[in-house]
Amino acid sequence: MRARLRRESSIAFVPTMGGLHEGHVSLVRLAQQKAQCGVVSIFVNRLQFAPTDDFDRYPRMLAVDCELLQQQGVDVVFAPDENTLYPVRQEFMVKPPPLAETLEGEFRPGFLQGVATVVLKLFNIVQPQIAVFGKKDYQQFHMVREMVRQFNSPEEIVVGETVRAPDNLALSSRNRYLTSEERAEAPRLYQALARVKRGIEDGNTRFGDLEENAKEALCHRGWRVDYIAVRHRDTLAPACEGDRNLVVLGAARLGNTRLIDNVEACARGFTRKR
Ligand code: PAF
Repeated sequence: MRARLRRESSIAFVPTMGGLHEGHVSLVRLAQQKAQCGVVSIFVNRLQFAPTDDFDRYPRMLAVDCELLQQQGVDVVFAPDENTLYPVRQEFMVKPPPLAETLEGEFRPGFLQGVATVVLKLFNIVQPQIAVFGKKDYQQFHMVREMVRQFNSPEEIVVGETVRAPDNLALSSRNRYLTSEERAEAPRLYQALARVKRGIEDGNTRFGDLEENAKEALCHRGWRVDYIAVRHRDTLAPACEGDRNLVVLGAARLGNTRLIDNVEACARGFTRKR
């Protein structure tokens, strides 16, 4: 890969696990605007799946993915097998901060350590100037940006907006698992988050109540909710009264499928009494 990429003057990289959809395509387009050579990796990274996760059933459709990337004019696809990326047992790992044990990390132990480790390896192989991540995986994007900052790594991390279906369901490779009834129900996760956002933007600062109401509404319809959380956008710390730039994150299970989503919210400012 290094030999192939040596002749490129600037590289923008989109790491993926395949099962590509319009959300990935929008990240690819963003990458292509930012550098002369666009590289996409496709690798289902065992390290970031807990034993109870869906590693075995994760969509693998390399030929279809490559065709899509070719149509998009992607210059290089890097699709290593496990022995190529992990020729020996990966014993050195990136140890993420305690934030990685909250939100996704609370329900998917080891997830963010696995992501950070593979992303660091991929960055070392591809050596891009720009790397593009999707906002749907908000905590992942946040962690990668912090990792790069704290390790003085040279990549510029760019974030791409979440792409949604007309009914607002965030596009995800895992949407393929949904039955038709579940697919009809799935936009309710976004709707629950959007309701929290509206509450915040109407001036409600009882974030705990807003989270609980959203959870209850989903549970009532048969969802198993992992979390609904109002967080500060830059730190992902729990939101406090007075924070302006917030994000409402949610993860919930519908049947055997776990969906995540988030919406950004702007809390009202205070007018200080003199
Ligand atoms: O978001 C993903 O698809 C994966 O977590 C990533 C960033 C490609 C690492 O395996």
